[in-house]
Amino acid sequence: MKERVGLLGATGYSGRELVERLRRHSRLELVTAACRSDAGKSLAQVLPGAPDQPLSALEEVDFSSLDTVFLCLPHAASAEWGEKALQSGCRVIDLSADYRLTSAELYQKVYNLAHPHPERLSQAVYGLTELHRAELREARLIANPGCYPTSVLLGLAPLLRQGLLSGLVLADSKSGVSGAGRSASLPNLFGEVSENVRPYAVGDQHRHRSEMLQQIRAYGGSSDLLFTPQVVSCFRGMLSNLYIDLPAGDVWQIYADFYRQEPFIRLLEPGQTAQMSDSRQTNLCVLSLHPMPEQGKLIVVSSIDNLVKGAAGQALQNLNAAKGWPETEGLL
Ligand SMILES: NC(=O)c1ccc[n+]([C@@H]2O[C@H](COP(=O)([O-])OP(=O)(O)OC[C@H]3O[C@@H](n4cnc5c(N)ncnc54)[C@H](OP(=O)(O)O)[C@@H]3O)[C@@H](O)[C@H]2O)c1
Repeated sequence: MKERVGLLGATGYSGRELVERLRRHSRLELVTAACRSDAGKSLAQVLPGAPDQPLSALEEVDFSSLDTVFLCLPHAASAEWGEKALQSGCRVIDLSADYRLTSAELYQKVYNLAHPHPERLSQAVYGLTELHRAELREARLIANPGCYPTSVLLGLAPLLRQGLLSGLVLADSKSGVSGAGRSASLPNLFGEVSENVRPYAVGDQHRHRSEMLQQIRAYGGSSDLLFTPQVVSCFRGMLSNLYIDLPAGDVWQIYADFYRQEPFIRLLEPGQTAQMSDSRQTNLCVLSLHPMPEQGKLIVVSSIDNLVKGAAGQALQNLNAAKGWPETEGLL
């Protein structure tokens, strides 16, 4: 029998990507694709080029008919709808930030909001698939990571997991404008974004820094993190340049050994450099390594598609991992 799936927030940028992938997954049935404002229409009417998927209203979703619910909603709305789905016994995979932080106090500080269901935070598995595969198996509540944390943490993980990450980490990250979602805002108008590079939340004000530090600490890392996100003049894609202390040993071999079995990590050969376009429209994280022995530094370049490995693709990879299916199902 197929897994019965619902998707809330289907008319958003990540929702649309997920609809496309769910529809081509052989073990899933997309029972409901719901949204707030466009119920009764087809997704193709709302987003030209999208599949002809009927849209229902959030209030009409019958959670008792679903096995798994994906939440492609803004934070706060996710916690509200996620609770209804969890109460009905559904597995929940949330693309927002509502279940990523383990501390309700930190959530309040970072999101300026009291978490409505703080008891859920300890139940959630952080869905960076490559690092949390064992916990994802049979998980009922999965917090899909942010796009910046995905690109940064996958670039650090081989060192972090082996206790080789030390010193200050500098992360300089660039994102296509779709990272901000579909809601209208002046800084994201074409005229503002086009032919421009705009740093924002400079000085470690970005919310994703807390999420990244939480993961670094969870693996015993003591490194601090300086993080500068930037919006660049394209729709999709993300590139993070990471500046870290060079550990002893053959660093390329360390990464190659760590990611040997991973279907969605592509480590480039020494001398090659990852670009944003390397991962476009794929669930890949493409990494290149640039050791600088004289300076004692390593530069890691990490490329993902923010809407795929940074959002919808990783969410589906996490459902595959939770069910014990091949992780590539629906994603190649
Ligand atoms: N975009 C990315 O690259 C990315 C990456 C990783 C994670 N995320 C996270 O994934 C979630 C979705 O992101 P997105 O970029 O797809 O957002 P988006 O394009 O803005 O779409 C949001 C969706 O949620 C609906 N919605 C908005 N406010 C709502 C509310 N208060 N109650 C119920 N529904 C509401 C919207 O419907 P209406 O249009 O009808 O309001 C739309 O379907 C966010 O939490 C985001 O932080 C996004």
